[in-house]
Amino acid sequence: MKNKPISSYLNVDEFKQTAEKSLPRMVYDYYASGSDSQVTLSENENYYKNIKLMPRGMIDVSRIDLKTSVLGVDLSSPIMIAPTAMQCMAHPRGELETYTAAKNLGSHMTLSSIATTSVEELSEHANGNPGWFQLYVFKERSVTINLVKRAEKSGFKALVVTVDTPFLGRREADFRNDFSLPHGLLLKNFADLPLNKVQGGLNKYIGSMVDSSLTWTDITWLRTITKLPILVKGIMSPEDAHIAVQNGVDGIIVSNHGARQLDTCPSTIEVLPHIVRAVNGRVPVLVDGGVRRGTDVLKALALGAKAVMIGRPVLWGLATAGHEGIERVMTLLSEELRLAMAFTGVTTVSAINSSIIWNPSSASKL
Ligand code: FNR
Repeated sequence: MKNKPISSYLNVDEFKQTAEKSLPRMVYDYYASGSDSQVTLSENENYYKNIKLMPRGMIDVSRIDLKTSVLGVDLSSPIMIAPTAMQCMAHPRGELETYTAAKNLGSHMTLSSIATTSVEELSEHANGNPGWFQLYVFKERSVTINLVKRAEKSGFKALVVTVDTPFLGRREADFRNDFSLPHGLLLKNFADLPLNKVQGGLNKYIGSMVDSSLTWTDITWLRTITKLPILVKGIMSPEDAHIAVQNGVDGIIVSNHGARQLDTCPSTIEVLPHIVRAVNGRVPVLVDGGVRRGTDVLKALALGAKAVMIGRPVLWGLATAGHEGIERVMTLLSEELRLAMAFTGVTTVSAINSSIIWNPSSASKL
């Protein structure tokens, strides 16, 4: 099937439609699914639609600057690439293409532990500056230590420790499809482990490797084995955010794992302001889940996020046209953001705040 020219794609959803048509069913389902009844999966996107932006007029918005920075990472736009597993199922060069897109756009990616490209391969492709590394803490601590050391040696600049996965959520489509890695692909960070010989039930096997006894003292332990900054990903509760900061983390990623873990938990944008309040400026707060429009990015920033991360939109772009597809996806989001900033009367990322969100109860009584 011949895809239409990339320049004719106008939004993230069009990329999703092409990915659905072109990817094998098992792969598409793995990427698209949420857990259980997928209530939170729709909520992540839908909650954004309930938040209303207030247009403002007669403000000079002839120049809009999208640049920002997060923990020393300069970004051309406040949109980063979330870690997603097994990207070579979407494109033969998988994670390498994702890196290329990030680099070409002045964005930034986080490599998943369970990637189909190893930390060393990505580092070589990225001239020793491959971004951040997402870490699952495995039961076998020597596996974790080894992975952290390899990531450090490969030039990764921070660890993104995922804390919402003591077990894998139940994604029914993966059971139905008996999900496994397509022939010829490997989870390259674990080339020596039996993991790569598992046929069906791959999710179950990965789930069994992850340490479900993890607690905050393990963050203290991680600190003893690495000097890299540590962000925790998968925070939804303000209490957890507070405890994370008390335990010395360098950043918080508000995430429900793209609605792949606890179904019927709130959407991420719903809890974001509560977490921002609990963190109280002590560390940067990022958010992911359901960001599909530039207006979503603007709302997340207005509610206190330093930047957003996107997961599936990147996979849809990658499946459609490799790095060019991802670049188009991210450029569309940035251009939508730019326009939404103009309409709400803000010209820089640092000037975005909650005043651009319509709140009838605190509307001024002029
Ligand atoms: C993920 N996510 C994820 N998170 C993580 O910490 N490690 C991982 O390996 C993966 N793998 C993964 C695979 C796929 C197919 C998806 C969809 C998601 C979660 C990811 O980092 C992010 O939190 C969500 O994808 C954000 O939601 P959206 O943008 O996909 O709605």
